[in-house]
Amino acid sequence: MLGDTPARDYGDKLEAFSRFAEPELRALIGELGIAPGMRVLDAGCGVGLVTAWLGDAVGLDLALAHARAARERVADVVVGDIARLPLRDAVFDLVWCANTIHHLPDPLAGVRELLRVLRPGGRVALVQSFLLPEMVFAWDERLEREVIAANRRYYREKYGLSERDVTGMRALVGLLRRAGVADVRARSVLIERIAPLSAADERYFVETVFAGYWGRRVQPYLTAEDWAEVQRLCDPEAPEYALRRPDFHYLQSLSMVVGERT
Ligand SMILES: C[S@@+](CC[C@H](N)C(=O)[O-])C[C@H]1O[C@@H](n2cnc3c(N)ncnc32)[C@H](O)[C@@H]1O
Repeated sequence: MLGDTPARDYGDKLEAFSRFAEPELRALIGELGIAPGMRVLDAGCGVGLVTAWLGDAVGLDLALAHARAARERVADVVVGDIARLPLRDAVFDLVWCANTIHHLPDPLAGVRELLRVLRPGGRVALVQSFLLPEMVFAWDERLEREVIAANRRYYREKYGLSERDVTGMRALVGLLRRAGVADVRARSVLIERIAPLSAADERYFVETVFAGYWGRRVQPYLTAEDWAEVQRLCDPEAPEYALRRPDFHYLQSLSMVVGERT
């Protein structure tokens, strides 16, 4: 649905986000009570940073470059499609699947496939960022809304998606319930950063968010004035640079929905 293929490689962005959100990701992982000896699968493991934080987990990804990067960090990485997992039935105690299930053409079938490889009583944890709108320009909600809408339009047009396709990822609770998962629970944390930022967080915003996710992609969907202002806000050399403003305050939600295979 979002154009993932075995040949696609956006490992740099995945690595940057995992490092940026490490405290919050580790907080969610901490809630899962992972004990030594538990068999854990990271489905859609990307470059494997989080897989390594999940204990002795097995990583699985469709993209060859991502799986290759994950193998540098994790002993057991499988190349495969969540829609048809190359794994036996009922072997895992926990499946972690972060920011991945909505990449599948049929997320419900994907969840059912994840359940197939869980033992009865095993748990599935779907993790998703941005269920709530993020806050980037705390002082200018209008401009922030325009930039985020422009970015969404870029992705919708690139992948031929409707608004409903894009927002479908919000329905994680319903997705698990429709798959027949028991004891569904939800837990969200906020990724929150204020000025002054650490050098690593500043680099993440400048390189991954401003240049990588926004950049020229948003220009066609903004007025000339808004585009000029966004460029100034995102430019470390400009006096208006957002990240050195004393009122810089960033918020992003990170949600985990967990349930049990009956
Ligand atoms: C947004 S990334 C998230 C990666 C990782 N979970 C993380 O949090 O960094 C989605 C990942 O799922 C993989 N992926 C997409 N569709 C997949 C599928 N059908 N089966 C397995 N992996 C898939 C992509 O290659 C990518 O690595």
